Amino acid sequence: MKLLVTGGAGYIGSVVAAQLVEAGHEVVVLDDLSTGHEDAVPAGATFVRAPVTDAAGVLGGGGFDGVLHFAAKSLVGESMARPGLYWDANLGGTLALLEAMRVAGVRRIVFSSTAAVYGEPERTPILETDPTLPTNPYGASKLAVDTTLTAFARMHGLGATSLRYFNVAGAYAAADGRVYRERHTVETHLIPNVLAVARGGGKPVSVFGTDYPTSDGTCVRDYVHVADLARAHQLALAGCAEGTHRIYNLGSGTGFTVQEVISVCREVTGHDIPVVTDARRPGDPAVLVASSELIQKELAWKPDRASLREMVADAWAALG
Ligand code: UFG
Repeated sequence: MKLLVTGGAGYIGSVVAAQLVEAGHEVVVLDDLSTGHEDAVPAGATFVRAPVTDAAGVLGGGGFDGVLHFAAKSLVGESMARPGLYWDANLGGTLALLEAMRVAGVRRIVFSSTAAVYGEPERTPILETDPTLPTNPYGASKLAVDTTLTAFARMHGLGATSLRYFNVAGAYAAADGRVYRERHTVETHLIPNVLAVARGGGKPVSVFGTDYPTSDGTCVRDYVHVADLARAHQLALAGCAEGTHRIYNLGSGTGFTVQEVISVCREVTGHDIPVVTDARRPGDPAVLVASSELIQKELAWKPDRASLREMVADAWAALG
């Protein structure tokens, strides 16, 4: 298949692009490098440096069978400070892409959605049918895209799948010998922050909140390996049915507290990682754990690398 990967120079998009190239697809990566890295684009893919709002120029070339859409703004804190930026980039960018797809006759899309659409869940594990009450503009803008995809499936016959990621971790060693890893310029995620301290980052790890109603007072999250997550995109693409929008959670179904994650990082790295207790981070739900039963049942997806230790070990090894 000929596929467009928007945001394919970012962490998750680059792993998906690498797997698609390995699977023999013709891949075009569209990325403006606002947060991505050109050297994360797999060697076998064609790279177009442009914003997603320019998708018409690429898709207009013809022959595309589908789109995997990752290009987005994804920092919760930034979204609180600059909501307009998030609505514009995430919803506006996707609307431009969907219009370009409609004009070019491209009828399949896999969208990178998020657990942030659920906000503070009433119960866990979270089902796809649970209430969606996002607590920040990032989650709200991603939810708006999910809603838009449902409308485009109904009205324009699009085949769409939204994958709602929980906490993505690990790195991917591709067949081309390259290792694809998380390397955000502004890093907010727990595991890379902890590993940076293990490497000798100077400052201790800040643990945001120790008074949550959890076993040790720190937040619980559900970690999924980036290689497993990327594989789900291939299944989702193959399963896209015209006129239908499917939504699936993607997690491992097991929760770990922040302290437990830090303990695993200490074991894997052999470093005594210093921590300091900090205030709660605004907007952090206490517990986010996915039910991924639906995607397991409908697309036969199953995490192969569900152990947190393996995710941390892969992320650590990728740092070299
Ligand atoms: N944390 C720390 N110290 C850090 C970084 C994070 O204690 O230096 C804590 C956070 O407070 C949170 C947990 O570690 O309790 C996980 O934080 P991450 O930033 O790694 O991940 P989030 O759960 O905040 O974010 C994930 C996705 C987002 C999504 C969000 C939904 O990465 O895209 O879930 O809440 F929006």
